[in-house]
Amino acid sequence: MQHTLKEVFSAQEIQERVKNLGKEISQIYKDEPLVLICVLKGAFLFFSDLVRAIDCPHEIDFVRLASYGSSDTSSHSIAFTKDIEINVEDKHVLIVEDIVDTGLTMEFLLKQLSVRKAKSVKIATLLSKKARREKAIPIDFVGFYIQDGFLVGYGLDYAEKYRYLPNICEVEL
Ligand code: IMP
Repeated sequence: MQHTLKEVFSAQEIQERVKNLGKEISQIYKDEPLVLICVLKGAFLFFSDLVRAIDCPHEIDFVRLASYGSSDTSSHSIAFTKDIEINVEDKHVLIVEDIVDTGLTMEFLLKQLSVRKAKSVKIATLLSKKARREKAIPIDFVGFYIQDGFLVGYGLDYAEKYRYLPNICEVEL
């Protein structure tokens, strides 16, 4: 079944914003040791454009997380299905996420990475849905702030569909 999709951010808007985020990030880290961590699967396109927009040296790695239970905080649990492989000790870590919604996923990842003796752990997210936030996590780099609504494209999916779209659209559910 195909859904009705309404464009929210065009491919060109996204590309321009990601280039600017890359410049911002490069100025912060300069020649410090830096590891960029892509949160699979949703951030894969954002990540691949962002790393090419960052002109300071860095390593890359990937995590995949699964969440179980309802989105209700008390019964929600998150676990790695793929952990990072790089040692982040004494390096700056930048988590690259597609969208921060309730904040539960990023809260989990921040906690997990903070015990690995990184120099710092920051978050870059393409999209931030502030209205639904349950956890007040610090987000250091935000592509776009959005209202509620389910978005797809540029890596984001609805039941594994639409990740390949070059733009970001709202799905009419
Ligand atoms: P959080 O733990 O509630 O912040 O959930 C973040 C994750 O939920 C993201 O990494 C996405 O995988 C998924 N998500 C939240 N909102 C959307 C959306 O509008 N479209 C697609 N995925 C979403």
